[in-house]
Amino acid sequence: MTDDILIERPDAAPHVQVIRFNRPAKKNAITRVMYARMTEALKTANDDPSIRVSAFLGTEGCFSAGNDMADFLAFAMGGSLGAEVLDFLQALATARKPLVSGVDGLAIGIGTTIHMHCDLTIASDRSVFKTPFVDLALVPEAASTLIAPRIMGHQRAFALLAAGEAFSAEEAREAGLIWRVTTPAEVEAETLALAAKLAAKPPEALKIARDLMRGSQEEILGRIAREAGHFATQLKSVEARTAFEAFMRR
Ligand code: COA
Repeated sequence: MTDDILIERPDAAPHVQVIRFNRPAKKNAITRVMYARMTEALKTANDDPSIRVSAFLGTEGCFSAGNDMADFLAFAMGGSLGAEVLDFLQALATARKPLVSGVDGLAIGIGTTIHMHCDLTIASDRSVFKTPFVDLALVPEAASTLIAPRIMGHQRAFALLAAGEAFSAEEAREAGLIWRVTTPAEVEAETLALAAKLAAKPPEALKIARDLMRGSQEEILGRIAREAGHFATQLKSVEARTAFEAFMRR
């Protein structure tokens, strides 16, 4: 068990399960145990009729700074990668109920790509979306190489995923990565209200509509696996290890 991920059932949003990043001292960087907890929550949502929507939230000023760099470094030094990250990505891509997310502030790495699997995302106007995969000598993950070009076109996807350009909330909205921009004070309430509204809809009709719009799960899972192969190889590269060590030394 970990308190770095909180699973909440807010009174204000019946039938909504909140999955909250809660490691603010480390900018909500995600460890293996945190991935495992999120996977468990997504699987619970699949089977629990009292949960109709899951909502990802972070803490004030920070959604997530992405994968924990110490975990990256441990693997680069010869440790085991574990199945937690891949399990989570698969659970995300195969979630059977709608996913929403609310972002306030930093959304880095998987903190950005996670929204490509969400159905509706609201972000505060001070949010920043960025994926420094290539700068770390890594490759994009979470099927983002498939989904991002589809939703925003090659050039913007390349700017985000390969060039490592930061997108403001407004740019992310224009690119179709998120749905709406609001104020930091409103983002959480608006996300929960949206989730509650979805949760009040006829679940089967909503599920069918969602499934039809999301396209081939097989293709997405295939891309996750392909990216993961490259990711694991790159994690072991000298360049990547140098980048992680530089971060840890700061
Ligand atoms: N993994 C592990 N720890 C992280 C982290 C990460 N991804 N991101 C931030 N932290 C930790 C820092 O090490 C620091 O810990 P410390 O106080 O014990 O030294 C703490 O969170 C605060 O981070 P700090 O860098 O001091 O805050 P900042 O506001 O100056 O910068 C970021 C915030 C997110 C821009 C910066 O921390 C960063 O670039 N993080 C790495 C993001 C990243 O590359 N993620 C991987 C994507 S694939």
